[in-house]
Amino acid sequence: MTLDIKFVDAPLGHEIRGVDLSKPIPDDVFAEIEAAYDRYGVIVFRGQKLSAEQQVAFSKRFGPLDRYVLEKYNMKSCPEVFIVSNIIENGEPIGLGDAGRYWHTDMWVTPRPPRGSMLHAIEVPHDKDGKPLGDTWTLNMQAAYDALPEELRLKIEGRTAVYSGRKYVEFRIANTPRDPRTGELSEADRVGMEERARNIAPEISHPMVKVHPRTGRKSIYYSEGSIDRIEGYSHEESERILEALHRHVMQPQFMYRHVWQVGDVLMWDNCSCIHKAIGDFEWPQRRHMHRTTLGNPPARASA
Ligand SMILES: [Fe+2]
Repeated sequence: MTLDIKFVDAPLGHEIRGVDLSKPIPDDVFAEIEAAYDRYGVIVFRGQKLSAEQQVAFSKRFGPLDRYVLEKYNMKSCPEVFIVSNIIENGEPIGLGDAGRYWHTDMWVTPRPPRGSMLHAIEVPHDKDGKPLGDTWTLNMQAAYDALPEELRLKIEGRTAVYSGRKYVEFRIANTPRDPRTGELSEADRVGMEERARNIAPEISHPMVKVHPRTGRKSIYYSEGSIDRIEGYSHEESERILEALHRHVMQPQFMYRHVWQVGDVLMWDNCSCIHKAIGDFEWPQRRHMHRTTLGNPPARASA
């Protein structure tokens, strides 16, 4: 079989059609899906209807799964599924409501970040005209690496970035919109920030440039507002490099904006891509998604 892929005008975010992920996928078809995932970094399936268990079963085809670090948001009956939702039931949020509202790669807080994530849309918020809200922006960091000006490339190649939990929480608090009625963070945002502050290690190091373990391609490894410094530079020089890097990667030709429909499955590769959720909706507009997290990637068996 050759996959039916509908290409979008971006280096990532292509749609794979004609596959029902709730059913067992033949090995040859799965191999093509995995190759597309490795190659493009972000792939999309539309019109899927997956139970939590079916999503876990498909996710496990890529290898062992990781569990999300904030355990209280993992589904009780199926803890490999992390609930991303702003829905309040019995006064309690059923999931993490403000997940990922900044450019990031998932779980940089861990020394061996997961291979990627799979997000399945159960409910999608929309405005009064029916336009979907809560888009997810994605960005291909391999394309951004390939287009680096030589001077900037030489500044980051072989360097180590030190990520800081303190810096990240400060960045998120400073950049989270306030409740217009109180001028303070909303209750859900405040709880989310406190959870993060408790659960993030003070410092963790990652290379600025990562080599993809399955394709061998290089990409910039970066999350906005989370890097305290690049080792080997003064604080001022490190800040200058990070600002230049941010300006470079934030170019539209590297990006794909996913507009959600119920039933969508979006997969992103954490080594080669970053992403950002747009928080342009609020309760009682309902957003409900199930995320599975693919474990750190095994090398490709045949190569
Ligand atoms: Fe994320």
